[in-house]
Amino acid sequence: MYVCMCHGYTDSQIRRLVEEGVTSAAEAYERLGEVPECGKCVEEAQAVIDRVRGAAAA
Ligand code: FES
Repeated sequence: MYVCMCHGYTDSQIRRLVEEGVTSAAEAYERLGEVPECGKCVEEAQAVIDRVRGAAAA
């Protein structure tokens, strides 16, 4: 599922970054070598990160 339409990032890509230790949307964008353009995806990106981290902690 696409999370960021401006850059074409998917939830799978973000999930992989979380597995590598990423904990925030800002950090995820940094690792992807981008900065948010419209910013509409930041909230969803952070939600994906929080879900993955929550599932890993459970
Ligand atoms: S949807 Fe991600 S920056 Fe626009």
